[in-house]
Amino acid sequence: MQRTLVLVKPDGVQRGLVGAIIARLEGRGLKLIGLKMMRITKDVASRHYVEHQGKPFYDGLIAFITSGPVVAMIWEGREAVSVVRSLVGATDPLKAAPGTIRGDLALDLGMNLIHGSDSPSRAQAEITLFFESNELHEYERTADRWIRE
Ligand code: RTP
Ligand code: MG
Repeated sequence: MQRTLVLVKPDGVQRGLVGAIIARLEGRGLKLIGLKMMRITKDVASRHYVEHQGKPFYDGLIAFITSGPVVAMIWEGREAVSVVRSLVGATDPLKAAPGTIRGDLALDLGMNLIHGSDSPSRAQAEITLFFESNELHEYERTADRWIRE
């Protein structure tokens, strides 16, 4: 089953939206496999956002993501990577559709609340970057037979 990394960014923690964001992911039927609050180091931030190194917004992005605690989570489900991306909405909240997390709860490109891995290969790399294997929990969830045919 596919897994993806989600971060509630420092703005989401500060605004008290951790619970609202988790509720949307749980409500869709995705399964929570790992969860922790943490402060991202500059080193982890630079590896997480390696694709953006050299871009004009890079320094601000690293400063923002390391500016306060985040909530890091692993979610599992069929097509979890693209399902989470569709729940998250477009990068710029002004362009994100109503009904998405960014489209309902955010206004600014630099304060867009949540990260979701953008491909299965990035998801794998990001899960390894943020979580030790003993922090991932495999368990039976009885509701699954009412979520997946
Ligand atoms: P994220 O990685 O943070 O989940 O966001 P994303 O995939 O939707 O967007 P991405 O292209 O990966 O960009 C990472 C973060 O950089 C900021 N950004 N600023 N000024 C700009 O043109 C610009 N472009 C991107 C955003 O905060 C975005 O979430
Ligand atoms: Mg991205």
